Amino acid sequence: MWGLSRARAWPVVLRDAELVLRPIQVADGWEWSRVRLRNADWLQPWEATVPPGAGPGPTTFRELVRGLQRAARAGRMMPFVIEVEGRLVGQVTVNNVVRGSAQFASIGYWVDRDVAGRGLVPRAVALAIDHCFEGAGLHRVEICIRPENSNSLRVVEKLGLHEVGFAPAFLHIDGAWRDHRIYAVTTEEVAGSMLQRLRDPCGDQSHESHQ
Ligand SMILES: CC(C)(COP(=O)(O)OP(=O)(O)OC[C@H]1O[C@@H](n2cnc3c(N)ncnc32)[C@H](O)[C@@H]1OP(=O)(O)O)[C@@H](O)C(=O)NCCC(=O)NCCS
Repeated sequence: MWGLSRARAWPVVLRDAELVLRPIQVADGWEWSRVRLRNADWLQPWEATVPPGAGPGPTTFRELVRGLQRAARAGRMMPFVIEVEGRLVGQVTVNNVVRGSAQFASIGYWVDRDVAGRGLVPRAVALAIDHCFEGAGLHRVEICIRPENSNSLRVVEKLGLHEVGFAPAFLHIDGAWRDHRIYAVTTEEVAGSMLQRLRDPCGDQSHESHQ
């Protein structure tokens, strides 16, 4: 019974005007590598790294995507790329999908510095959260952020997520175990859609929909 809603969960394409979230694919390799290389300094302080003794991660983009696709088919994650006007500009990844009595997931993201500051990631994350709740039937979504990451803290602030905790040495980021602030939202807190709430934080959502 708990797996029923997975059929609608993945694969999906989510859209809001010029912004598209679609499943990552092996064919994205060339464009993805170019964006990542150009943004190496921008991304490095916030990048997940392999902890000592954890064994090697994927060594090629193909291996990486195949691993993500396997996890997505198993219902454990939803790995999206962000496209704007057909150009790959970032990723939003729904991670750690837990079913059973948790119905939980966490979300990570990054965007090309060229298009930063246009509110793309808040909109992309709102789309992903709406899909987690409406399409995948999850109950709670969490976003974990290093206290130093002021840009990412603005994303959760714009989305109106509540800070629910602090996790010391939570994730291995940029070569060391890093503290994280934890933000969360549940279905009960979103009367309608996150996307609509982002557009109109004080508005009446009762008759709105983004689909
Ligand atoms: C965090 C991040 C995803 C935000 O994406 P975004 O689409 O730019 O989000 P926003 O447009 O809402 O911008 C958020 C804040 O970033 C800052 N910012 C905007 N443009 C910027 C730029 N060109 N350079 C540096 N900072 C910028 C601003 O403070 C902005 O807040 P404001 O809108 O109140 O001015 C993006 O900065 C990023 O990819 N950073 C590197 C990777 C990362 O930190 N990932 C998240 C890990 S938890």
